[in-house]
Amino acid sequence: MHVLVTGGAGYIGSHVCKALALNGATPVTLDNLSLGNKWAALWGPLIEGDISDKELLNSLCKEYQFQGVVHLAALSNVRESQQTPLTYYRNNVGGSAILLEAVREHQIPYFVQSSSCAIYGMPEQIPIDETHPKVPINPYGTSKWMVEQILQSAGQSHGIKIAILRYFNAAGADLDGEIGEAHDPETHLIPLLIQTALKKRPSFTLFGSDHETSDGTPIRDFIHVTDLAMAHVRALEWMVENGESLTLNLGSGRGYSVAQVIEEVERTLGCAIPIEKGERFAGDPPILVANPKKAIDTLKWQTRYSDLSTIINTAWRWHKER
Ligand SMILES: NC(=O)c1ccc[n+]([C@@H]2O[C@H](COP(=O)([O-])OP(=O)(O)OC[C@H]3O[C@@H](n4cnc5c(N)ncnc54)[C@H](O)[C@@H]3O)[C@@H](O)[C@H]2O)c1
Repeated sequence: MHVLVTGGAGYIGSHVCKALALNGATPVTLDNLSLGNKWAALWGPLIEGDISDKELLNSLCKEYQFQGVVHLAALSNVRESQQTPLTYYRNNVGGSAILLEAVREHQIPYFVQSSSCAIYGMPEQIPIDETHPKVPINPYGTSKWMVEQILQSAGQSHGIKIAILRYFNAAGADLDGEIGEAHDPETHLIPLLIQTALKKRPSFTLFGSDHETSDGTPIRDFIHVTDLAMAHVRALEWMVENGESLTLNLGSGRGYSVAQVIEEVERTLGCAIPIEKGERFAGDPPILVANPKKAIDTLKWQTRYSDLSTIINTAWRWHKER
C-alpha cells in the first residue's frame, strides 16, 4: 500500500513515514523542501515538489495508485502568519484545495489531515475536547480551521473518508535517534533550550512569565512525536476498518509549564541555561491541554513516550549526535 505523505521531509512527517513503513506501508513523500530536509526522507521515495502543482500530483497518483494521503505540508509559524497572512492562506488553504482535487479525481479513499489546537483559540475550558468552540486567533489557526471546513465538504460531497487530527505540542525525537526536530529558524521550546545548552545560542528568551498559572509561565501539552506518528497509522487503519471519518485531539492530556520544562532540561543535561525575560505575546493562551479521551477510546491507542523525561532525553540524544 502506497501512502502519499505531504510534508514527509519535515519534523512530524518524517516520523509518520517511519511509522507507516514499520507497519507495512510505503510512504511516498511530496515536499517542496522549503522547511524540510532531504536527509529526513528515509523510508520511501522523496519527490521534491509543491502540493499546489496539479500536474505533478496527477502523475504521482497515476504512478503510485495511492490508498491514502497523510497531509502534513503547511507553514506553521504563528508569529510569521501574523506578518504574512496571505502567504499562509495561499500555501495552507490554496495548496490543500488543489491537493484535494487530485484526491477526488484519482479516487483516493482515505485522507489524514494535520490540524492543530490553534483552531480553538483562547480556551473556554481545560482540558479541551473536540467539541470546544473553534475561534482561531491568528492566520495560522484560521488556515487550519478553513482546511477542516473544506475537508468536511469534500467528505460529504465526494465520499472521501477523512481523519482530522488536531495536534497539541509535538516534541521529542525518534527513539532510535535516526531523525528529530530541525526547524530553521527554530521556534519550538525544547530544541531552543537544547541549542542554548549546546551554546549555539547565547540565551533562551522566556516570553511571558506573568500568566495566570502557578509559576506564571504558560502550560502546554507535549506529545512525543513517535506517539503522534503512531496515531496516524491507527487513524488510517480505523478508517479502512470502519469506513467512516473522524476528528480527534492528539495530546497527552497532561500539561507542563515552560518553567518546568526548563528545569527538566537543565536537570537532564546537567547545566544551567541562561534565560532572558521577554514580554508575553498578545493572545498567547495561558494553558493549552488536550482531552485525548476520544482518540484513546476510538483508536485503541495511547501515548507511551510522552512523559517529559522521555521527550527531553530523545530530543537531547538526537541534537547532540547531529
Ligand atoms: N509541530 C507541532 O507541534 C505542530 C502542532 C500542531 C500542528 N502541526 C502541523 O503538523 C504539520 C507538520 O508540522 P512540523 O512541525 O513537522 O513542520 P515542518 O515545517 O517540519 O514540516 C512541514 C513540511 O511541509 C513542507 N511544505 C510546506 N509547504 C509545502 C508545500 N506547499 N508543498 C510541499 N511541501 C510543503 C515543508 O518543507 C516541511 O518539510 C503541519 O501541518 C503543522 O501545521 C504541528
